Amino acid sequence: MRIREYTEDDLDAVFRLRKLAFNASERPKRLRPGTRGLVAELDGRVAGVLGIGEYAQFYGGVAVPMGGIGGVAVDGAFRGRGVATALLDAALPVMREHGQPLSVLYATVPTLYRGRGWERAGVFEWVEVPMDRLLSVPRPTERMSSRPADESDLTALHDCYLEVARTIDGMADRRPPRIDAAKVLEMDLVSVLPGPNGLRGYLTAQREPGDHMGTLEVFDLIGVDVQAQLNLLASLKSWAGTLNAINLRITDPATLNLLGATPMRYSVSTATWMLRVVDLPAAVAARGWPCPGNAAVDLEIVDEHAPWHAGNQRIVAEEGLVRVEPGGTGAVRLHARALGPWFSGAQNTHALRRAGLLEGDPADAVVLDQLVGASGMPRLADFF
Ligand SMILES: CC(C)(COP(=O)(O)OP(=O)(O)OC[C@H]1O[C@@H](n2cnc3c(N)ncnc32)[C@H](O)[C@@H]1OP(=O)(O)O)[C@@H](O)C(=O)NCCC(=O)NCCS
Repeated sequence: MRIREYTEDDLDAVFRLRKLAFNASERPKRLRPGTRGLVAELDGRVAGVLGIGEYAQFYGGVAVPMGGIGGVAVDGAFRGRGVATALLDAALPVMREHGQPLSVLYATVPTLYRGRGWERAGVFEWVEVPMDRLLSVPRPTERMSSRPADESDLTALHDCYLEVARTIDGMADRRPPRIDAAKVLEMDLVSVLPGPNGLRGYLTAQREPGDHMGTLEVFDLIGVDVQAQLNLLASLKSWAGTLNAINLRITDPATLNLLGATPMRYSVSTATWMLRVVDLPAAVAARGWPCPGNAAVDLEIVDEHAPWHAGNQRIVAEEGLVRVEPGGTGAVRLHARALGPWFSGAQNTHALRRAGLLEGDPADAVVLDQLVGASGMPRLADFF
């Protein structure tokens, strides 16, 4: 089997695989900016493909470069022969060489990715909010005027998103070229709340067909303060009469949980994403840490597919900085799959131990929990 980066010349073969696997309908005209791809060849034919998008996720307020794996597809006639696994093995050093110490994917087949060290580490959610619940949201005490966005707002829109996103572990920083900021203006509704310095909030939504009158899909509802959030929620009340409910993508989990009331039971559509720490020293150096008091923990990393960080490693927090250095006693044994949910804060060391992914004295392991200081379920609001 030969694995190589894919080029414009592979577009037809790649489209054929993705059409079969995902029912993809349109052949891309060129390689997508901000994306690297690998193809596997068997008997001189393209047998499988894997894409790596250039993203970055916020952890502790700092954006860490992340390779977003997507579009993994193997020719139906070549399945079950290790093609996908070989592509994943090849992707790890490629991401490391391109400065991506983390990798995320949305898995249709979790067992495949678990075998190579990815593990569930956060969520991507949509919530159906019935109109009567929106109507019961308190009125803002400050009425703010919204207006439609235009091209001159694009930087401010992104800044407003970042102000909130950097406080939620896992969120993408939506950097170009992979994410094209101007695309947002193609949506049916993009309304902004101007403030003294940039925007205080904005809302993006798309009208979609469905039963009766269809639905309103709200992609981002971002307010940097309570009045901005209440004004945006109030603007959605105007849909009462036309719609029974709106679908809200959860970008800021506080909006619904602290301001809008959901019924006792409600429908959430959740996609979980899996995280793999590709390069532990680089990932630790790149992120922010909520409370790096002086501490150290000796680890033994069991990771045969990323030999560059396998073995004994010591995490040292000193004078506000956290670093990984080789050596130490290996007191806490962490399997590759434990690294993602630990790093994101999705699981603590007790859960990792119960899943067979961590061993060692709990008194040593607790330092790992203290370091990440998990502050809620990590999330993404971008799908790939
Ligand atoms: C999923 C897919 C990429 C796997 O490709 P493949 O080359 O057959 O996979 P491999 O031969 O490397 O299999 C690796 C492991 O995953 C397991 N696996 C593969 N497909 C699976 C499936 N659909 N369900 C459960 N396990 C699966 C295999 O059993 C194997 O495990 P083992 O090593 O313990 O036997 C391929 O079936 C495909 O293209 N499917 C449609 C598209 C898709 O779902 N892509 C994944 C997007 S996230």
